[in-house]
This record gives sequence, structure tokens and C-alpha cells, in this order.
Amino acid sequence: MTSNEIREKFLQYFKERDHTIAPSSSLVPDDPSVLLTTAGMQQFKPYYSELNPITTVHPSIKKPVGKNAVSIQKSFRTSDIDEVGDESHLTFFEMLGNFSFGGYFKKEAIRYGFEFIAGKEWMHLPIEYVTVFDPDKVPADDWRKSVPFDRESYEIWKRLGLPEEKIRKDGVDVFWGPTGNEGPCGPTTEIYVKNANGTPVEIWNIVFNEFYRGKGMELIPLKVPGIDTGMGLERLAMVSQKVGSIFETDLFLPLMQVLELNDRTNKLNQRTKRIMADHARGISFLIADGVRPSNKETGYVLRRIIRRFVVNEYLNKGIQPYFERMLHVIVENYGQFYAELSEDFIETVFGEERMKFVKTIETGLRELDAVPMLDAPAAFKLFESFGLPYEVVKELGGEKARVLTREAFEKEFEKHREVSRAGVEKKFGGHGLLLDTGEIKAGSKEELKKVTRLHTATHLMHQALREVLGAEVRQMGSDITPERTRFDFSFGRKMTPEEIKKVEEKVNKIVKADYDVRFREMPKAEAEKTGALHFFKAKYPERVKVYYVTPKGKDVPEAWSKEFCGGPHVMHTGEIGHFKILKEEGVASGVRRMRANVESS
Ligand code: SER
Repeated sequence: MTSNEIREKFLQYFKERDHTIAPSSSLVPDDPSVLLTTAGMQQFKPYYSELNPITTVHPSIKKPVGKNAVSIQKSFRTSDIDEVGDESHLTFFEMLGNFSFGGYFKKEAIRYGFEFIAGKEWMHLPIEYVTVFDPDKVPADDWRKSVPFDRESYEIWKRLGLPEEKIRKDGVDVFWGPTGNEGPCGPTTEIYVKNANGTPVEIWNIVFNEFYRGKGMELIPLKVPGIDTGMGLERLAMVSQKVGSIFETDLFLPLMQVLELNDRTNKLNQRTKRIMADHARGISFLIADGVRPSNKETGYVLRRIIRRFVVNEYLNKGIQPYFERMLHVIVENYGQFYAELSEDFIETVFGEERMKFVKTIETGLRELDAVPMLDAPAAFKLFESFGLPYEVVKELGGEKARVLTREAFEKEFEKHREVSRAGVEKKFGGHGLLLDTGEIKAGSKEELKKVTRLHTATHLMHQALREVLGAEVRQMGSDITPERTRFDFSFGRKMTPEEIKKVEEKVNKIVKADYDVRFREMPKAEAEKTGALHFFKAKYPERVKVYYVTPKGKDVPEAWSKEFCGGPHVMHTGEIGHFKILKEEGVASGVRRMRANVESS
């Protein structure tokens, strides 16, 4: 089945079952607690709690959506960016979804899923297995542990004829949401189908929204329980078209062909081609929805994928730049569904950013020409000053870079980190640094105590800022020395004296109440799902710590603040001492800087 036939079938199936067809919403959601639209349910989030689907006029349908809806939603996930290049992960993708707000529930939702995938007149695909939620598979201290085994779904699948060995029990992976800090969430059941390589692929995620998770991780039964499902169009096309990767489906083949035609020297490996194809779509759709390259938030996501694309394009100059050719194909294939894709406009925005970045690359390349020998230290210098990645130096350095290996380059990288640490040491009087995390520095035990207090105070300030100014406040950077904490955050204007006072008061209230500070270590993906604040630009390891500040004796669900962090922190907020803001100023457009201190104890 072609991808366009799949789209039609999906909408038709649910239209026949009383669902209103809702157009895709923008990739940039109207919800300050998330950066980008990552799922079809994003635009319907309020229908599970405060909005009435029968009386509220839906902004693009121009009438109430009713109890059931179906959509094909543009989605973008930064969480999968490092996996792009394998057979099934993407940044930008289209999500097929059906939704119910207080309408049907598990029985119908599972039957619909089953019938649409396995039914002869629909996709007619063999289901490899399905999953259902079981708290026995959930770690002991997890906030989902108290949710009971989803026996109902288990029984429904059995009644539909699935043998028990095909109904697998699973834990946190089959509990969805919420997006952002709080919102609807619940157990899910997933459908797996094999691709042409024989690998079972998760095709469809059927979520039973039963709870509303509040900021403190508490689970409150939802006022309007409902259904939220999501199925990647690209993955469904892969299994339906009997190929081994999404890049071999009709959604990607034309883009892969442009790459192959342009790649005259045959330099691009398969993974690079896949990354370029994914990024070309991501770039086009982000720009079409109003995102512009910048150094923060969505703008930074766009800049990152443009630069990755441009480096590869630069390295493999074909007959003409790749992007424009790919964009042409994208607009041709998607223009009928997404009118916002304007070829000229996307080309202009992309072109400007490419020009800027290519200038940097070229300055770097002149430097590369000028140096007699490209060993690891020289290559590192080019990287540090001009952003030339290892691959570019190795590739374009030719004979001069013969001795250069990735290993040596990485060693140099490490060495540089140590040198910059040593630089800080000097500043601290040469007595050696006890602590240098990059953001926090201390030279003696005394100083370590002080920066630890300031560090916890910084977490409290971050949360207080969000409460006073709104959830759009995000950390942009921080720097903590024994003299003060310095904290940069996104916010559009100068704070008023009253707002500053409020932030101070909130922090001091938590200090006085002597809250507990504790942490949990968990896989990054799971930590992201807790809604803990994190520094968007940072690259986190696979296992991360989440720090919680909770009322005395209370556990994680009641946390007042939660944040990704490596520590160190005080054990109780009472140790921090009186907190005072010293200064608030602008450092860049949309970025404010706050300096604060705590009184000496
Ligand atoms: N929200 C769920 C997901 O993204 C189902 O749509 O997987």
C-alpha cells in the first residue's frame, strides 16, 4: 500500500466509526511546557481535563470536535536524534492517531487497533505480539508502581484471539506521558509487527488516559478518561511495503534517490544519507512552522540539524547543493497535505544559515591549508576555533592529515578539558581544585560547602522563577563560585522589583521549611518522562540523576522542584541560609542573568 493509500484508509476507518477528522496542528505547540509537538495528543491535551469537546469550538475545524477525533499529526522528537540512521528512528515524522475524550475506552480502542492492523480489508498485517502494563515490571521506587496490572486489556486481546504468549507484560515503557511537567497519562498497549528483516517493530501505541499527573508526580484520576493513540506513518509504510527500513518506503525513496544521484564520488555512507534525508524533512517542516535558526530552544534544534546537514553537503559537493533538490521533492510530495510548505521561503531561511555556517567552515579551511601538518592538536584547534568536525579535517586535509586518527583527536579533546581545569586551578590560587564540574568550582573544603549551598539555592531559584514568571523560563546556563551563583534563563523582559522580591521570598520560604533534598538515578529516557527540568543544550549520559526537593519526610510524588543534575547538594534546604538576589540584567535578546548569594553561616 502506498503511504497515501495508508493515510486515506486510516482516516476512512475512523471516520466510519464516528471520529471527526482534525487537521494537524503546528510543530510549535501552544503550550509553554513543551518545546515541540511530539505526539498527536498534544493539540487535544486540554480535552482530557478542562475543555469540553462537545461545546468548545476547535480552532481549525471551526466547530466542536466532539467525543472522538482522528488526525495525522506532524511530530518532531529530539529524544531520538542520536538514533536517526538506524532502520526506524526519525526526528520529524507523521503520527496517525485516534482519540476519545470521555467516549469509548479500552474495549473499542483495542478492537479498532486490532481490526485496522490485521483486518483483511484494512492493513492485513500479522501481529507479532502486543504489550500490556504490569506493575511487577516497574522498579520499586517508580511513581507508576501503584498502577494496577491492566488485566482488562489482557483479557480483551485474548478474546480477540491472540494467544497468551503473544500478550507480553511490560513496565515503564508501556505507560505513557505526560508531555511537559504535568498532564494526562496512563497505561498503554503496543502493537508490534515484523519488518522485512524479521525485526519486530513497535507500530502503534494505544494509550488509556486514566490519570492526570500533577507537578508533584501525584496521579489523580482524570475527569475525562479517554483514548490517545499514535502510530508512525513511516513505520507502518515500512511493514506494509515489506521493506527493512523506513528509508526504503515510498516516503523516503525519492529523497534517497536525490542523494544517490548527487553523490557522484560515492562518499556518503548509508547512515549519512539517512541522516541527511531525515534532517532535510525536519529542517523544511520546522521552518514552515515559523522556527528560525538561533541559539535557544527550537531555534537551536533547527540550527543543529542544519549544521549537521551542511557539513555533509559541503564534504560531498555534487552537481548542485543537495538541500534545494531535496526540498523540491519534499514540497512535491507533501505540499498537498501541508500547505505551509513554501519552497521559496524555506530555501531562503536555510540558504542564509548555510551561508553563515559555510563562511565559518571556509575560514577554518584556509587555516587548514595554512598549517603544515594536521596532527591531533592542530585538528583540535580547528575544531575549537571554527567548528570544523574531525571528519571534515580528516577528509579535506588529505595527505597532511594522514597521521590524524579519531582516537588521537579524542585524546586531545580530553587533554584540553584538563588544561581548562588547570586554568581554573590557577585562578583559585594554585592550591588545587576540589571540585570543577564546569559549572561549579571550589578550591577548598570551605569553598566546597559554600558552592554546595549555592547550588541547591540555584535549583530553588529556578523553580521559584518559573512559578513567578511562568513555565517559559528555562535555564540557559549557570556558573557557581564561592562568591555567588550566576544563573541565565530565557525570559523576554526585565523583571520588576516585586517579581524579584517574590522569587526571594519563595526561596526563603523553602529554606525555612527545611525541605529534604534527595536524588534518584535512572535511565535518561525515563528521567525525561518525569518532567524534571533539564538544561536543553546539555548532552546527558544514558543514566542520569534527578534531584528532588520535597517537603520534610515526603517522597518524590510531592516534590516541589525536580531537576536533572549531577550534584553536589545539601541534604536539607535549611542548610542553605538566607537567600538574596544581588542583580538582574539582560545578557542577550530574550536571556536574563541573575546573580544571587546566600548569607554566610
Ligand atoms: N501519545 C502517545 C505516543 O506518543 C500515543 O499517541 O506514543
